[in-house]
Amino acid sequence: MTRARIIGVGSYAPKRILTNADLEKMVETTDAWIVQRSGVRERRIADESEATSDLAVKAAQQALERANLVPEDIEFIAVGTTTPDMLFPSVGNIVQHRLGCRRVGSVDLLAACAGSIYSLSFGSQLIETGKYRRVLCIGAETLSRITDWTDRGTCVLLADAAGAAVLEAYDGDRGIIDFDLYSDGQYWDLLYMPGGGSRHPATPETVAARMHYAKMKGSEVFKVAVRMFVDCAERILKRNGVTADDVSLFIPHQANLRIIEAAAKRVGLPMERVFVNVDRYGNTGAASVFVALEEALVAGRVKRGDLVLVAAFGGGFAWGACLIRW
Ligand code: UT7
Repeated sequence: MTRARIIGVGSYAPKRILTNADLEKMVETTDAWIVQRSGVRERRIADESEATSDLAVKAAQQALERANLVPEDIEFIAVGTTTPDMLFPSVGNIVQHRLGCRRVGSVDLLAACAGSIYSLSFGSQLIETGKYRRVLCIGAETLSRITDWTDRGTCVLLADAAGAAVLEAYDGDRGIIDFDLYSDGQYWDLLYMPGGGSRHPATPETVAARMHYAKMKGSEVFKVAVRMFVDCAERILKRNGVTADDVSLFIPHQANLRIIEAAAKRVGLPMERVFVNVDRYGNTGAASVFVALEEALVAGRVKRGDLVLVAAFGGGFAWGACLIRW
């Protein structure tokens, strides 16, 4: 059967590094607290001239180069993002124009931090149905723009980056072999941004009430997140007749080292087979799985024939996993 194989991966993180020591000067926190509770040591923050599409274009260009393709080869662009340049047009539209892709469709998928898995799944379906041969999947965020820099519960975690993967039709057993997507809106108020939408359009009052920033009930998100990781990982492994022992590398959404460790333990994966870079990037939302995949590939942690599990969860809640035969 025709599968979507990942033939090029790219990533981009802004140059500016914000360390825990820098944060100690901004809010009441310590490096020791941040490292112990989240595993984050530093993160990248976009400068004033950079918007989400600027990061996305750079990651996409690298992915295309590595895939040995030119923009005209791409037939569809699917971008996972929660922080588009503006409400519309979509980041997908802006990226399409800036890359110079012709006659392509594009769309943004808003699934918070699970946007990576949603865009990969969406892209793989467009290929499996035979509709398209090459799809560009992107995860890109400037979460710093919706971060309340006076809220120590969120500002130590959120950050900016982009990653991209080129999918190509492949007749054989390699590629994205399965995916699972879930959502459960009952948890919406654990992690959300109230202002700027149709319920609370921007007014001087919404700005004064700090409604244009992400709000999070951290410890409650933590518990649900571990459950969701385990839920989708176990289900996709079982359905494909494999176990955690068959997984060469687990690349989870990089939200918090303790969440990753707890989930990996319950799924039965030793940390040697789990990719972690949350210490250097923080939580980059829909970008994080792509950025981690890119680093894992460059580091030689993924080889031909490996079974790779990627999974993510995020506000909404939305979560999911993809199983990839490399
Ligand atoms: O992509 C999905 C996005 N979100 C997540 O995945 C986040 C999931 N949650 C987490 O990562 C963790 O819950 C946090 C890192 C946000 C917090 O860690 P925690 O171990 O759950 O701490 P907590 O929220 O239960 O807070 C413990 C204490 C509180 O003080 P009191 O009430 O015990 O006096 C907080 O006020 O730590 C305090 N605290 C801080 N202290 C120093 C909260 N943030 C900070 C901080 N520095 N930055």
